[in-house]
Amino acid sequence: MNNKIIFSFKNNKKLALEVAKNLSIEVGRIYKKRFADGEIMIKSGSDVKDKDVIIIQSTSKNVNEELFSLLLLLDSVKRSGAKSITLFMPYFAYSRQERVSWNNEPISCQVVANIIDTAYYDKLVCFDLHHPVIETFFKKPIINKPTTALFSRYYDRYFKAHNIAKEDVVIVCPDHGANVRAEALAKALGNIKMVVLDKVRKRANCAEHLEIKGDEVKGKVCIIIDDIIDTGGTLISATNLLKRHGSTKILVAASHPVLSNHCYQKLVKAGIDDVVVTNSIEKQLHKDISVVDLLPLIEEEI
Ligand code: R5P
Repeated sequence: MNNKIIFSFKNNKKLALEVAKNLSIEVGRIYKKRFADGEIMIKSGSDVKDKDVIIIQSTSKNVNEELFSLLLLLDSVKRSGAKSITLFMPYFAYSRQERVSWNNEPISCQVVANIIDTAYYDKLVCFDLHHPVIETFFKKPIINKPTTALFSRYYDRYFKAHNIAKEDVVIVCPDHGANVRAEALAKALGNIKMVVLDKVRKRANCAEHLEIKGDEVKGKVCIIIDDIIDTGGTLISATNLLKRHGSTKILVAASHPVLSNHCYQKLVKAGIDDVVVTNSIEKQLHKDISVVDLLPLIEEEI
């Protein structure tokens, strides 16, 4: 019998239960109390003394509450004698505020990283962080795991099922930030061609793309690769542009399905043919959205 125990909040319940089942790990209980003034108290409802504790927590939906709940749980398990703490944050909120874009903005991601860094844990594991610079925001060890292998396996199968030749495929970065992830996928699929689009944001939640030159996407199946689908604005703007330039099919691979305001319908209306995401955030997804499972990548780190 191992000496591990796993905790998760509602954003990653299913993932945690699968890890627990596969690796025969005890599932920990979390006790939550809300006080009259709005404060919360979170503590482990299970014995963690001398145990290797694993916590899975994506800070999505009620972002600030989820973040604070995590900090309190980390403190609770450390004070209760945990031997080690491995923290998985499959989706890391605030990651898109990793630089100052407009006057007087904070670098919110650095602020969040500083706070998490001061909490008790031994190892932090994230997936497809919005930008590699975020790794430098932490003093403690952080592993930023790529999901390329999951998506490349998915597209190998998709191409076979839909009779798509790799020569007819182009990987599209909807902005320069997606470069590293797109290059990795292009390479994994057999050196597929890549196109990088120029994105401008005139205000928050409003993306526009600049025209592309040449006919690299004409008659091609385009795979747009991004880290997050939030409002869908980035993908819709990119899709409109690619279609105007003659792309025949638009596929989307995005790591984190934030999918605010049920934006999937808007993606379909814009002409996106297929969407695949990971299960970094647990939520009810439209039945036509495909999901690749982070489970094997999580188990590699336990
Ligand atoms: C931006 O730099 C990110 O990589 C995503 O492209 C963006 O956050 C997606 O958000 P939305 O779906 O609201 O355009």
